[in-house]
Amino acid sequence: MQEINLPSNSMMLSKDFLFGVATSSFQIEGDRKGRLDCIWDTFCEKKNAITDATNGDIACNHIDLWKQDVELIDSLGVDAYRLSISWPRVMKQDGSVNEVGMRFYVNLVNEVIKRGMKVFVTLYHWDLPQHLEDNGGWLNRNTAYAFEKYAEAVANALGEKVHSYATLNEPFCSAYLGYEAGIHAPGKTGMANGRKAAHHLLLAHGLALKVLNRVCPKSQNGIVLNFSNCHTKSDSPEDIHAAKLADDYHNQWYLKPIIEGKYPDIIDKLAPDVKPDIAEGDMAIICQPIDYLGINYYTRTVYQSDGNGWFEIVPPATTELTAMGWEITPDAFTELLVDLHQRYDLPPIYITENGAAMDDELIDGEVLDNGRTAYFHTHLNAVNEAIEKGVDIRGYFAWSLMDNFEWALGYSKRFGIVYVDYATQKRTPKQSALAYSKLVKSRINGY
Ligand code: NOJ
Repeated sequence: MQEINLPSNSMMLSKDFLFGVATSSFQIEGDRKGRLDCIWDTFCEKKNAITDATNGDIACNHIDLWKQDVELIDSLGVDAYRLSISWPRVMKQDGSVNEVGMRFYVNLVNEVIKRGMKVFVTLYHWDLPQHLEDNGGWLNRNTAYAFEKYAEAVANALGEKVHSYATLNEPFCSAYLGYEAGIHAPGKTGMANGRKAAHHLLLAHGLALKVLNRVCPKSQNGIVLNFSNCHTKSDSPEDIHAAKLADDYHNQWYLKPIIEGKYPDIIDKLAPDVKPDIAEGDMAIICQPIDYLGINYYTRTVYQSDGNGWFEIVPPATTELTAMGWEITPDAFTELLVDLHQRYDLPPIYITENGAAMDDELIDGEVLDNGRTAYFHTHLNAVNEAIEKGVDIRGYFAWSLMDNFEWALGYSKRFGIVYVDYATQKRTPKQSALAYSKLVKSRINGY
C-alpha cells in the first residue's frame, strides 16, 4: 500500500500537532427544507451555472447521517474535525435563532467532543442567506452587521466547547469568484463589485472576531484564507511585475488588512469607482489580533503580463495535474509558508485545507487513489519542511473527509478521502484515508 510518511524526528509526530479532516455545511448537509434558502440554492437553479446541473438539496445527507459520519471521523484516529455552520439553518429571516437548526450543531459538536476530538468551526463557508443577497448581499455593508449578530448567536449556543472558530473561509472566493468573476454564487461580476464585497467581508470578519473574543475568550479565534503562490512565466520585468500585482490582488488583499491594517499598494492603482468605500474606523475593526491564521493551499498559479500593465493567468503546461487541472506543486507550499512567515508578524498557523481531486473509481469495494495518497505525502512533508525552516504550524486538516458538492463543478470532482456513492449514500474509505489514518495512528509511539 502507498504510504504517507514523515521523518521520524518530525515535530508533526508529536502530541502538540493536530491532524484533522474538514468539510463544510452546504457541501455535505442536504436538507434544504430544514433551512432558509441560500445564495447557492439560487445559483444552482441558474442555467449552466453548475457543470453537472446538480445542487445541494441532498448532497451527502449529512443531516441524517451525522452520527455515523462522526463515528467514521473518529475511526480515522484524527484529533480534530473542521466543520462549518449553515447561517440559513440557524437564523430565521427575522433575525431570531432557529432553535431546531442550532440544536443540530449543538448535538454535532457534543458528539465530536464526546469522542475526544477538538472542534474547529467556520462561521461562513459561502452559504449566505438569500434574503440578505436580495438586499445586495456582500455589496451591502449591512450584511457585515447581520453576520455579527449571527456570530453572536452561534457563540452563545456553542460557546467555548469549540476549540477554534474561524469567522470566514476563503473570502477571496466569496468576493472574487462570487462578485467579480461571477463563477460562484451569487454570480455577480465586475472589479468594483469584487473589491466592495471583499471589504465588507473583511469588516464582517472584524465585527465577528470581537464578538467571539468577548463571548468565547478561551476559544482560538481566527480566519481561514486561501493562498496560491504567484509565480512568473518569465524573468521579464513585465511578468515579474504582473505576478506581484496578482499576489497583491488575490492573496495579500485579504491578509495585509488583518495583520497590518492596510490594503496592499495595488489599491492605489484602482480607478476611483473600483476602490471600495472604507468608512472611518473600518481598518481598525478589520485589524485585530487573531489567535491563529488558517491557511488553505492547493496549488501555485503562474502569471504573465497582459501587455497593458495588468496580469493574466498562464494555464498549466505539462506538469502533473489533479482532476481540477491544478498543478501538483508541494515545493511551492513550503515556499509560500516560509514567505508569509518572513513577510508578516503572524500568529500560529493551522493548515485548514489541503488535498486533491482525483478521478476515483470504486472497484470491488475499494478506491485505490494512489495519486491522492502521494499528494498528501509530498504536501505533509512540505509542511514539515516549513516547520523546520521556522514557521509555527500547529495542525493540518485534509480536505475533505468525504466526496461532496464541489461548488460550480457539482459532484463531478471528488476531493474526499472517503468515497461517497450518492445513489446509496454509502461511505467507503479510500486508500488515502487508510494511509492518512495509519500515519495519524502511528504517532502513538511518539507520545
Ligand atoms: C476550498 C474550499 O474551502 C472548499 O469548499 C473547496 O471544496 C475546496 N477548496 C476545493 O476546491
